[in-house]
Amino acid sequence: MSKKIFIKTFGCQMNEYDSNRIFDSVKKIGFFKTEDIEEANCYLLNTCHIRDKAKEKVYHEIGRLKKNFRYKKKPIVIVTGCVAQAENEEMIKREPYIDLIIGPQSYHKINNKIEEFLDKQKKIDETEFEAIQKFDYLNKIKNSSNKVSSFLTIQEGCDKFCHFCVVPFTRGPEYSRPFNQIIEEAKNLAENGVKEITLLGQNVNAYQDNKSKLSDLIIEIEKIPEIVRIRYTTSHPRDMTDDLIEVYKFSKKLMPLIHLPVQTGSNKILKLMNRKHLISDYIRTYEKLKNINPRIEFSSDFIIAYPGESDDDFMATFNLIKNIKFINSFSFIFSPRPGTTASNLDLIDKKISLERLEKVQKQLFNHQIAMNKSLENREIEVLVENKTEKSAQFFGRSEYMTPVIFDGNDKEVGSIIKVKVKSSNQNTLFGISSNKLEKKVA
Ligand code: SAM
Ligand code: SF4
Ligand code: F3S
Repeated sequence: MSKKIFIKTFGCQMNEYDSNRIFDSVKKIGFFKTEDIEEANCYLLNTCHIRDKAKEKVYHEIGRLKKNFRYKKKPIVIVTGCVAQAENEEMIKREPYIDLIIGPQSYHKINNKIEEFLDKQKKIDETEFEAIQKFDYLNKIKNSSNKVSSFLTIQEGCDKFCHFCVVPFTRGPEYSRPFNQIIEEAKNLAENGVKEITLLGQNVNAYQDNKSKLSDLIIEIEKIPEIVRIRYTTSHPRDMTDDLIEVYKFSKKLMPLIHLPVQTGSNKILKLMNRKHLISDYIRTYEKLKNINPRIEFSSDFIIAYPGESDDDFMATFNLIKNIKFINSFSFIFSPRPGTTASNLDLIDKKISLERLEKVQKQLFNHQIAMNKSLENREIEVLVENKTEKSAQFFGRSEYMTPVIFDGNDKEVGSIIKVKVKSSNQNTLFGISSNKLEKKVA
């Protein structure tokens, strides 16, 4: 019997990275990946717990799966990720269709656990925090990602305990992978054909291995000739240290978009959130970076209607957005998460929350639209990722991560090329490769 695994991923980039690494692991015990759920004999749901009814979403997905397999032999059902960690064996009790629960720090055990299940047909819950063993194990299995742009997890977990956030509970304490292990993985990705690496961590700029910091990692990865672009996410404002800021003075590969979540523009709310910095600290970092390179732009995450947010607090957020002109940001209404300090606080009226969210999003979208419009009729640098499925056009990203759809040619995939932007909308730029333009003129 051929073993086919279908993997569905919710949540952040780290979950995407994890899903790929899980597949690299299960390949060793004979699994192939399938995109067709109907032919899967193993179904893996990699879950996210950050907002809303995450838990219910999982049961809903499993319900759909059950329907798909009503008249067929059931696949092995594995739930991984942050809901698996938060809910553990409760999930199997509530939904016996689930066979294995594996938390984010136990992925190194996945092959053994699947084989154990196949052997004994006994349900398994594996949710220990063992980050060191996990990365030691995964390091021995080559990262097979060969996408032009790939993720590389360098740090996991969080010790900051912002009052709204489940991550310290689902991903465990902060752990930084050994420096050499990361460089080895980056070189391996480069050999696979990867051109852009995004370094990942829940607090990526808190990375520290002995004396090595994120800035040292960037400097070392910059030396890999095949890697042409470097990004990192997600940073915490408190860890935006001068050594990292200094790298922007000389780096040729670090992209000029910094995702630096501020969450709110109000010092009072920052304090209630336990963010441990002030808006003035954030602005100082912003100014230092802008002074080094005025082309640097910022994106952020915002939590709107956090308990206690007055009209004035909200306006402070709104004005900060107007001043910094963030691009590509995420904004959500506060969602109480079980087990966190803020879980039982009084919520702001739903109508007011929605009105505030709308106002903020409109402003954020205006910045995005204005930024994209300003690029029309100009040439920008694009890293070409692939040909689009539907049309014969190509897909790439600008330095600021904006998707670019353009007329180009196959040879350009994997290279940074110049694209003349012809038009734009809120999310995308449209244009033509300058190589093609030159040919047209010739
Ligand atoms: N470590 C990053 C930081 O400190 O900014 C954030 C990581 S978290 C995975 C991503 C984003 O989810 C946060 O920046 C926050 O805006 C959002 N988030 C987390 N908990 C939330 C909650 N309870 N309600 C709404 N948004 C939330
Ligand atoms: Fe969550 Fe980020 Fe705060 Fe950690 S620093 S608790 S990951 S929001
Ligand atoms: Fe979600 Fe866990 Fe990432 S809660 S955002 S998958 S760290």
